[in-house]
Amino acid sequence: MPLLDWLLAPLSGAPTHEITPWASWHARLMVLGWGLLLPLGALMARFCKVMPSQGWPRRLDNPLWWHAHRVLQWSGVLAMTVGVVLAWRGAQGAAGLARLHAVAGWALCLAGWAQVAGALLRGSKGGPTDRQMRGDHYDMTRWRLFFERAHKGIGWLAVIASIGVIALGFVVADAPRWMPLALGAWWLALAGAFAALQRRGRCIDTYQAIWGPDPMHPGNRIPPVGWGVRRPFG
Ligand code: HEM
Ligand code: HEM
Repeated sequence: MPLLDWLLAPLSGAPTHEITPWASWHARLMVLGWGLLLPLGALMARFCKVMPSQGWPRRLDNPLWWHAHRVLQWSGVLAMTVGVVLAWRGAQGAAGLARLHAVAGWALCLAGWAQVAGALLRGSKGGPTDRQMRGDHYDMTRWRLFFERAHKGIGWLAVIASIGVIALGFVVADAPRWMPLALGAWWLALAGAFAALQRRGRCIDTYQAIWGPDPMHPGNRIPPVGWGVRRPFG
């Protein structure tokens, strides 16, 4: 079938596609990490803080997004780390687009590790359900504000940049045509889900999601951090 042959052929149109085992495992792990797990985890963190069936604000602090985000981001960063070790040991110094892919790829790995480090150092929680009332998050200390700005900003920038790094990887490896096409369709589906959930007002302020809208909570007296974040009350 001509269409199937066309889809299975490499991007360059060459008759065969050769790739070393380390490079194919590098590609699989990077697509798993940056193509699937990390963007899904970022979407869960943004849109699943309050679920429609939960009866918020009667029931506060739904832990779904928190568990999902940690499992997805830890697994994504783990896949990325194994993937980059394979590339580091296997690659033999590159030029041109391969060099660009390598430099941008290392920068993206640094961003991924920095996200985990920043999250581990984000400070204490506090609030009525914690052991102590005072805490970085409940009080929205300067440290917490810095964490939220940096973690959200770097996180989304990295997710967007990973599209370019993966696309470069496909070109450098002269991947079969169906691969970038399938991933492109997946990214379009993710972008569509982002737009639909954002329009429905599903990006709800973390602070109110956890502690509710009462103005006695200190964080409800300052604006929420980030673009397009909805605060249902106040
Ligand atoms: C593995 C440990 C991680 C922990 C404990 C963690 C924790 C958090 C927390 C607490 C928030 C909510 C911030 C807020 O709304 O106030 C958040 C949001 C976010 N995280 Fe992580 N994170 C981790 C890893 C990552 C990684 C590796 C990425 C890389 C892409 C990432 C990307 C994001 C993004 C983009 C958001 C913002 C979503 C939005 O727009 O609301 N996180 N994370
Ligand atoms: C966001 C995902 C990716 C990241 C972060 C990434 C990162 C890297 C890094 C850092 C290197 C250079 C290692 C070194 O020389 O020190 C590299 C090399 C390479 N990557 Fe990726 N990569 C990603 C996705 C992909 C994909 C999807 C493919 C193929 C389909 C791919 C194919 C390659 C190849 C063939 C090399 C060797 C280049 C050469 O030296 O000739 N990468 N990658």
